[in-house]
Amino acid sequence: MAKKDQEKNVPTTGHQWDGIEELDNPMPRWWLWTFYACIVWGIGYTIAYPAWPLIKEATPGLLGYSTRANVAAELEQAEAANAAINAKLVETELTQIAQDPELLTYATRKGDAVFKTWCAQCHGSGAAGVKANGYPNLLDDDWLWGGDIENIHLTISHGIRNEEDPDARFSAMSAFVDIFTQDEVAQVANYVQSLSGAPNDPTLVDAGGLLFADNCASCHGETGMGDREQGAPNLTDAIWLYGGTYDDIAYQINYARNGVMPAWQNRLDEASIRAVAAYVHSLGGGE
Ligand code: HEC
Ligand code: HEC
Repeated sequence: MAKKDQEKNVPTTGHQWDGIEELDNPMPRWWLWTFYACIVWGIGYTIAYPAWPLIKEATPGLLGYSTRANVAAELEQAEAANAAINAKLVETELTQIAQDPELLTYATRKGDAVFKTWCAQCHGSGAAGVKANGYPNLLDDDWLWGGDIENIHLTISHGIRNEEDPDARFSAMSAFVDIFTQDEVAQVANYVQSLSGAPNDPTLVDAGGLLFADNCASCHGETGMGDREQGAPNLTDAIWLYGGTYDDIAYQINYARNGVMPAWQNRLDEASIRAVAAYVHSLGGGE
């Protein structure tokens, strides 16, 4: 039962632990008023700002505040701030971009951001390609389709072997599984290995060379140096799109993977495409 504490003349709560009782002092006034103020502020806040979750969205709040709208406004501002230099990027001849240091710095920085957002999934964040699975390394000076900025720009704008862009780069290596016997595949694969000095069976190489001249040289060149008109890789440089082991090469001869890259001209604006072309061109392999 609640009773008064004799000494302090304060009522107790009636709670008891091993004979120790709890005094029922009133809350300090400053504490109570702060508490009430918080309640009033809380109610005001939920009226002014987006707060109460409803089924599809929250109550919007009387002030119409929205972080989404803020971001959109900031983006618009950034866009407006860069409008002049983006326009310059689009007007400048591709080959002249590198002559203007300010423009080049802007383009490569913007291109770096574009690359990380749209290209890194396939080409790797450092553009080094993901090892030998068909996504080429863009850092080296080994190019399938050409490494000057105009060719890079064209590759990015239209893509490769896709069905969405009629101007996509196109070529198709045939699958030789129905054309060659597996003995012939072994011969020509050993010949291909010999081109870059990889371990090979010398007893098969000569026959492979004859098959190569008849079946492969039209695209990969008489000496296996490749042909950029057809995106046919150089087979002599030990840089491989699909791997350089005997099995990798024999697989490609049998089944001919033909890599696909999407077109970007309808996904990115021209300034972004030029920026990422300048970025890729600047990476080290640009011609
Ligand atoms: C869906 C995967 C994918 C994405 C995303 C992608 N690429 Fe590619 N890219 C490829 C493939 C695959 C090839 C090689 C096609 C072939 O075998 O000819 C390629 C080839 C290239 C080439 C030609 C390289 C050469 O040696 O000639 C360039 C340049 C290139 N990509 C740039 C880019 C840029 C820049 C982006 C981002 C805007 C991008 N790619 C996004 C898959 C992709
Ligand atoms: C019609 C043109 C064409 C013909 C003919 C052709 N190729 Fe190819 N070859 C290509 C193209 C294009 C690629 C690249 C495919 C890609 O980008 O996905 C390629 C890729 C390769 C690769 C993979 C290279 C790498 O870096 O991983 C090898 C190996 C190869 N070809 C060997 C041969 C051999 C051997 C023959 C003849 C039996 C042959 N090719 C005939 C066009 C051709």
